[in-house]
Amino acid sequence: MGVRAQVLGAAAGGGLPQWNCGCENCNLARRGEIPAQTQSSLAVTGNGMDWAVLNASPDIRQQLAATPALHPTGPRALPLRSILLTNGDIDHVAGLLTLREVQPFTLFATAEIHRVIAENPIFSALRAEIVERRTIALGQSFELAPGLTAELFPVPGKVPLYLEGDTVQTDLVGEQTVGVALTAGETTAFYIPGCALLSDDLRARLDGAALLFFDGTLWTDDEMQRAGVGSKTGQRMGHMSISGENGSMAAFAGLEIGRKVYVHMNNTNPVLRPGSPERAEAEAAGWTIGQDGMEIAT
Ligand code: MLT
Ligand code: MN
Ligand code: ZN
Repeated sequence: MGVRAQVLGAAAGGGLPQWNCGCENCNLARRGEIPAQTQSSLAVTGNGMDWAVLNASPDIRQQLAATPALHPTGPRALPLRSILLTNGDIDHVAGLLTLREVQPFTLFATAEIHRVIAENPIFSALRAEIVERRTIALGQSFELAPGLTAELFPVPGKVPLYLEGDTVQTDLVGEQTVGVALTAGETTAFYIPGCALLSDDLRARLDGAALLFFDGTLWTDDEMQRAGVGSKTGQRMGHMSISGENGSMAAFAGLEIGRKVYVHMNNTNPVLRPGSPERAEAEAAGWTIGQDGMEIAT
């Protein structure tokens, strides 16, 4: 058996609909005319019994409730073995506070991401003697859950929004933003919910993969400005767009990847509307648009 994944949350920070957003997609989702999506998280297993959750979103309570494979199997017994963080952004760490009920699991992250968590005393609600915090070096292979091996690698990105200084480097390559390689049996899947740029290193690493979950935050770089909901571009947020000559569809066009799935879509992204021309274009280029509850096995 290979890697099995379930999308817990397909949207970027804010979700769809986002509480304060009156954009077209958020209004459609509020009216039930397109599916709502929760915030960025993926559940994975290598043996069908023991699961890891990649990123703890603010919606994790609802996500776990909606996912029978992750329900308790006894009074305090769970199939959830670990949580892995790929950066320190609020949409990826705030859900840790929901997991504070004296429940053992392992929290995996790089030293840099663990430092950010450790500097926020509210996370000590996850008591160290119960929730083991394990530091993983880049390039180090480790057991994420029984039957599932993982390795972290650097992805161009930036520090979390709440740690940004006056100047921000948006294509930092280090321990603050990572991708995950997941191996079970003979197959390897990749999870990269945030990526500023598809570097040559990254292209070489991903070529030939069975399955890829990739940053689908924005369709166009200036989409949030055009929708009248913000001043930031995708590049400023550390996310490459899907469309255009510098976009991810073009960047992946020459690579052999079994299944390519966009995740971490911002609520302004037109691919979140089933039937939109943008979604059709992404699908024609071989991409699947992730959505909450979607299950994919390699
Ligand atoms: C991002 O993915 O760019 C961040 O999650 C944004 C945020 O922290 O709101
Ligand atoms: Mn995010
Ligand atoms: Zn919106």
